[in-house]
Amino acid sequence: MPNVFGTPHKGTEPRHEQVVFCQDEASGLRAIIAIYSTALGPSLGGTRFHPYGSEEEALTDALNLSRGMAYKNALAGLDHGGGKAVIIGDPATDKSESVLRAYGRFVQSLNGRYYTACDVGTYSEDMDVIARESRYVTGRTVAHGGAGDSSILTAFGVFQGMRAAAERVWGTSTLRGRRVGVEGVGKVGHRLVEHLREDGADVVICDVSERAVERVRGRHPEVDVVADNDALVRSELDVYAPCALGGSLNDESVPLLSARVVCGAANNQLAHPGIEKSLADRDVLYAPDYVVNSGGVIQVADEIEGFDFDRAKARATGIFDTTRKIFALAADEGVPPAVAADRLAERRMSEIGRLRGILL
Ligand SMILES: NC(=O)c1ccc[n+]([C@@H]2O[C@H](COP(=O)([O-])OP(=O)(O)OC[C@H]3O[C@@H](n4cnc5c(N)ncnc54)[C@H](O)[C@@H]3O)[C@@H](O)[C@H]2O)c1
Repeated sequence: MPNVFGTPHKGTEPRHEQVVFCQDEASGLRAIIAIYSTALGPSLGGTRFHPYGSEEEALTDALNLSRGMAYKNALAGLDHGGGKAVIIGDPATDKSESVLRAYGRFVQSLNGRYYTACDVGTYSEDMDVIARESRYVTGRTVAHGGAGDSSILTAFGVFQGMRAAAERVWGTSTLRGRRVGVEGVGKVGHRLVEHLREDGADVVICDVSERAVERVRGRHPEVDVVADNDALVRSELDVYAPCALGGSLNDESVPLLSARVVCGAANNQLAHPGIEKSLADRDVLYAPDYVVNSGGVIQVADEIEGFDFDRAKARATGIFDTTRKIFALAADEGVPPAVAADRLAERRMSEIGRLRGILL
C-alpha cells in the first residue's frame, strides 16, 4: 500500500495531513479525500470520478493529486492548501444523486478543511448536487453563482506562461512568427489557439477527435493539422504545447523534439522523474505544467469569494511573472525549472504557513 504517513525517522519527509475513507453502502459511495497540507489555508482540489481497478490505485491517485494541488495552489498565490478526492466508480453508470449527496455530507463533515470542485468525471452540475449537502463546494454552474467553464482562464494562463518562456528564450514576450504545436484542441487547447493566432503565431495542431480539429479549422483555416502527436513532436516547432493527456514528455518524445520551449495545459506532462533533466540537457525550456495551468484553480478559488471574472483574470495574468521568476531561480540555482518551481512552492508554504504560529 502507498505510504500515507511517511517515515521521518528513516529520512522520508512526512506526507499527508489527513486521508479520509468515505463509504455509504446503500448508495454505493466509496470515496477517498486526501488533504496534503492546510499550511496556506483550507485545502482545495477537484473530485475525480473514475473506475479505479483497486483501492490501492485510488489511494495512490488521491495522494499524488492532492500533493500536486498543494504546490499548484501555493504558486498560484492562493490562500489554499492542497487536497483532492476520488470517487471509485464509473461516472457513466455509477453516478447518482444519492452517491453525490452522500459524498457531499462527507465533505461537509471536514468542516472546511477541504473545498471540492470538478475534475475528470465530474461537472459543475454535479457540484450543484454536492452543494446541497455541503458549503465547501466551488466550480458550480453559473445559475448557482458559479464561474462556469474554467478552461477560459486555464488557456489564458498557459498563454501567459508561454509569453514568459518566449521572453526567456528569444528576448521578447510575444509568440509572433513562432511556430507552436498544440497537442489536443479540446476545451483548453482550442482557446489557446485563439490566443496564439491573435498574437501572430503560426499554429499546427493534432487531436484524436475529428470534431475538435474541425472546430479549430472552421475558425482558422490557416492552422496546419498533422496526423498525431508523434508527427507533431517530429515537426519543426518553436514551442510544443501538450494540451491533451499526461505523459507527453517521455523517453521517446524528448529526443525528437525540435521545439525550444514546452508549455501546455496538460497535467503531469513529465512521464517520470528525470525527464525534466533530459529536457534541460537538450536546452529545451520547460514551463512547469502545474504553474502555467493554474488559471482554472484560480477561477474556482475566486468563486469562493463570489466570482469576479476581472479579478480572477488579473490573478491569472500573474502566471507570467511567476513563470518568469521560476526561470530566473532555475538559472540562479542551476536546476531545471520543474525543480525551481517545487522549491518556490515549498518556500511559500513554509514562509506563509509559519505565520499561523503567531497566536491571534
Ligand atoms: N479544463 C481546465 O480548466 C484544466 C485545468 C488544468 C489542467 N487541465 C488539463 O489540460 C488538459 C486538457 O484539458 P481540457 O479541459 O481541454 O480537456 P478536453 O478533454 O476538453 O480536451 C482534451 C483534448 O485532447 C484530445 N486528445 C486526447 N488524447 C489525445 C492524443 N493522444 N493526441 C491528441 N489529442 C488527444 C481529446 O480528443 C480532446 O479534444 C488535461 O490534461 C487537463 O487535465 C485542464
